[in-house]
Amino acid sequence: VSRENSPPDRDVLVALNRAATAARLMSGVVHEVNNALQVIGGSVELLDHQPSLPATVVKSLERIRRQTERAAATLAELLAFTKAPLDGRERFNVRESVSRAIGLRHYAVTRLGLTIEMKADEQATYLAVGNAGYFQQAVLNLLVNAEQAMAGRHEAIVVTLKGETDRVGVEVADVGPGLSDAARASLYEAFATTKEPREGSGLGLWATRSIVESFDGSLEVTTGPTGTTFVLWLPRG
Ligand SMILES: Nc1ncnc2c1ncn2[C@@H]1O[C@H](COP(=O)(O)OP(=O)(O)OP(=O)(O)O)[C@@H](O)[C@H]1O
Ligand SMILES: [Mg+2]
Repeated sequence: VSRENSPPDRDVLVALNRAATAARLMSGVVHEVNNALQVIGGSVELLDHQPSLPATVVKSLERIRRQTERAAATLAELLAFTKAPLDGRERFNVRESVSRAIGLRHYAVTRLGLTIEMKADEQATYLAVGNAGYFQQAVLNLLVNAEQAMAGRHEAIVVTLKGETDRVGVEVADVGPGLSDAARASLYEAFATTKEPREGSGLGLWATRSIVESFDGSLEVTTGPTGTTFVLWLPRG
C-alpha cells in the first residue's frame, strides 16, 4: 500500500510530536529504572558477602547480578540514543555505534527468534566522519527492516563492518524474501510503505538515505529472493 498522498499533515505532525514526547518520557523512565537497578545491584553485592551461602543461592545471585548489569547497559544505550545531539559533524567510532544499535535491538530480536551477528576485522579501527546520533538512527532503521523481513525465521541478520581507503561501511544483510516490486518502485520515498500502519510509516529508508547523504555518504542496496543487503557508507575519519 503506498500511502504517499494520504496522511494529512495533522497526522504527520501529531506522530512526530508523539515521538518527541516519547523520547522525553523515556529519559525520565530510564533514570527511574536505573535507580532501581542500582539498589538491586547493591543488595546483591551485600548478600553475596554473607558467609556460607548455599550453592543454589550463590548461583541465583550471580544470575541476578548478570541480568541487572545487562539491563543497566541497555538503559545506558537507550539514554545515549535519545540524548545524542543531532547536529554537527564529528569523527566517531563506527564499531561502537553499531554495537550500541545492536544492543538496543537485542530484546526485540530475541523475541522474534532472530539473532544479530556482527562481523568486523578485529585489528581495524572503523572511524568515520558524520554524526554518531544520526548514524545510529540509520543503522537502527536498517536493523528493524531486516527484523521485519525475517520475523519467525530463526536465522541471523549479519552486520559487517567494511573499511576502504576513503570510506567506512556498515552492511546489514537479511535472508528475508527480498524487496517486493511495490517496495522497489518507491523505496526511498517518504511515507511509501508495504506495511500496516502499526508496523511502519515509510520513513525509515527515506530518513536513512537523507542522513548518509547529508554527511557525503551513500546507501546501496542489493535484493533478491534469498534476501536483501543494505550498505551505509560514510567518509573515513
Ligand atoms: N530488508 C527488507 N526486506 C524486504 N523489504 C524491505 C526491507 N527493507 C525495506 N523493505 C521494503 O521497503 C519499504 C520501505 O521501507 P522503510 O523502512 O522506508 O519504511 P517502513 O519499514 O515501511 O516503515 P518505517 O521504517 O517508517 O517503520 C518497506 O515497507 C518494505 O516493503
Ligand atoms: Mg523501516
